[in-house]
Amino acid sequence: MKVSVLGSGLMGHGIGEVFAIYGNYVTLYDIYPEALKKATINVIDSLEKLKQKGKVDNVDEIMKRINTTLNIADISDSDLVIEAVPENLELKSKILLQASTIVREDCVLASNTSSLPISELSRYVRRPERFLGLHFFNPPVLMRLVEVVKGNETSEKIFNQGIEIAKSIGKIPIPVRKDVIGFVVNRILFRVFTSACSLLGKYTVEEIDSSAKYLLGFPMGIFELLDYTGIDTNYLISLEVKKRGFNYTCPALEELYKKGNLGSKSGKGFYDWRNGRPKILRRDKMPKPEEIISSAIQEGEWIVENGISTKEEVDLAVKLGLGWPKGVFEYKAELNSMVR
Ligand code: 3HC
Repeated sequence: MKVSVLGSGLMGHGIGEVFAIYGNYVTLYDIYPEALKKATINVIDSLEKLKQKGKVDNVDEIMKRINTTLNIADISDSDLVIEAVPENLELKSKILLQASTIVREDCVLASNTSSLPISELSRYVRRPERFLGLHFFNPPVLMRLVEVVKGNETSEKIFNQGIEIAKSIGKIPIPVRKDVIGFVVNRILFRVFTSACSLLGKYTVEEIDSSAKYLLGFPMGIFELLDYTGIDTNYLISLEVKKRGFNYTCPALEELYKKGNLGSKSGKGFYDWRNGRPKILRRDKMPKPEEIISSAIQEGEWIVENGISTKEEVDLAVKLGLGWPKGVFEYKAELNSMVR
């Protein structure tokens, strides 16, 4: 399959890498030559790590399947195009319109958006019935989940094709049957981010992250994850979802964004990343697990009650998309048993 990825940032390059590993021919498009150079370096670095673990055989062979381009006309012959530009409606709508005008009639067009409804983006697309959400998790090469999102206009055939596409690259697809803000996993994650941010002042960044890591068993601290996925990305997401009525609030995020401290990519965010991942130690003082997870549990319940995904799908999605050891309903059962 010929796959084009629009935007070669943190998500774009990782999505392209996954498709190339599974034998697809990938075109990475960006408007910035430096971004394409950085993307190529990042893909090679990641493939080298995977090779050391015996997960891929030949880095050069995979790299031969990846082309980079500054010319959007080069995507015209794609079977699948995935948009992964920054979370801004104007930017996304412009590029989606451009792409849908260029591609063949039978091309599947997808967005990796985290925060914008697929149905809203579909207004800017030429054949909205062939447009859907394929939402990956960072780093796409390691996280097994892909949320497959059906917009109001997405045809059943394309939705099912999206599920098959995710399976063809070794991912576990979770169907998102209603196009709600943040889909499934991010709705839950945004609640956790908001709860953690509201605890700042009462606890430090390190104390909150210590609870996330050592009491809840998350693979990363909450602020560490905000840094890892990008302060800019998260800030832009928070603005877009807030505009659409979902309360994702974190004043500390705005402060860092305005200072240009964008997290791991710029070397500084909530943590200093210049010497690699922060070491989060177990603290004596830290929030109780329920102070962090209760709002996420409530969100999981809302998702199930509204027929978006099942209880089992929600729990599987957070485990595969966020690397949590337990799903929200499993945390709920654990907290209930502790109370008794
Ligand atoms: N490619 C290849 N290998 C990689 C890699 C990459 N991009 N990133 C990390 N690795 C390797 C490391 O080199 C390391 O290898 P080693 O065992 O040989 O040393 C191995 O993976 C494990 O990495 P670490 O030791 O650094 O740490 P962890 O064991 O914690 O694993 C992680 C890393 C898989 C990223 C884990 O921390 C995790 O699951 N974190 C949560 C990530 C998450 O929540 N992602 C979703 C964010 S939300 C999102 O993306 C949605 C969007 O819309 C905002």
